[in-house]
Amino acid sequence: MIGIGIESSCDETSVAIVEDGTILSNQIYSQIKEHTPYLGVVPEIASRSHLLKINELYDRAIAESGRDIASFDYVAVTTRPGLVGSLMIGAQLARCLHLVHGLPIVTVDHVEAHFYAGFLERRERPSYPFLGLLLSGGNSAVFRVEGPGRLIKLADTRDDALGEAFDKASNVLGLGYPGGPHIERAASQYAPAGKERFFPAILKDLPPDEISFSFSGIKTAVLLAAKRGEQKEKIAYHFQETAFDLVERMLLRALRRENVQHIEASGGVLANQTLRHRLDRFAEKHAISLKYPVSKALCTDNAAMVASLGQYLFEAGIRDPADFPVSSVRMA
Ligand code: KG4
Repeated sequence: MIGIGIESSCDETSVAIVEDGTILSNQIYSQIKEHTPYLGVVPEIASRSHLLKINELYDRAIAESGRDIASFDYVAVTTRPGLVGSLMIGAQLARCLHLVHGLPIVTVDHVEAHFYAGFLERRERPSYPFLGLLLSGGNSAVFRVEGPGRLIKLADTRDDALGEAFDKASNVLGLGYPGGPHIERAASQYAPAGKERFFPAILKDLPPDEISFSFSGIKTAVLLAAKRGEQKEKIAYHFQETAFDLVERMLLRALRRENVQHIEASGGVLANQTLRHRLDRFAEKHAISLKYPVSKALCTDNAAMVASLGQYLFEAGIRDPADFPVSSVRMA
């Protein structure tokens, strides 16, 4: 089985080819530099950039795979959630491949696709159910995944996504965009004196039974600490620690409520080494299996995960009409 995946939901344009669970090509163009002057993704710039890049990425993916597009089994395309103008660019390429080469279309939920990146990298087929933890620039959520296309949301953010909070905290500290790598670097340069309590009230105020994320309090604490003139590295360190404490607490609540043996984590924030170590320790302590893509390219937005989920949906008999819609939100 061979399929092509297309991803254009936010600020990465990507086209990938996956054959029987093996990535033959995963072409990714990141627009980060184009958005850096604005400290965030500008939707109009994003769609124009997708339009300028997508044909080139398609040509490179086909060339690298060495396969003939006419022999492909399906085309999988991200259609939700995302920036509508951006999603439409990927959608048009999928429609072209359908009309010109007769490829069946499988539309894919971007959030769900993230949970298939790690399985693809490890060349494993997923066993259900499992918990999906997504921590990215646009989403911070926990899902129970019961099968391809079958997701139940257990936790969401009440305000910012974690990656977005990293970006805003970094901006407050004058460290640069995107914030994740800058905060991580600054945090690694700080050595706490024993068990320091820096943002103590934030986690104390959590509702006892709810599974949800909220990063706005930590963001405000960063702003106040910066105004007090605290050391940047110290603030960055405690921002990370407090945010990751919250992630672990919510994950534990979800784990206690659901009867699952495996957690699959993904999203841009999983590029963070401290988070990776903490999640490894969490898995050990609670005797569960917890995995994330080792390759950072597979943690962030990419089309290989779209092609992979597309394969499972295709096997389950999913075919979408050529006039499929795109949507800024997840659809049930
Ligand atoms: O999954 P992703 O590529 O896509 C979007 O949702 O757009 O995630 C991007 C996010 C950004 O907010 C970025 O600051 C964050 O992931 N990120 C990190 C790190 N590298 C990227 N956050 C924490 N630590 C990192 N090393």
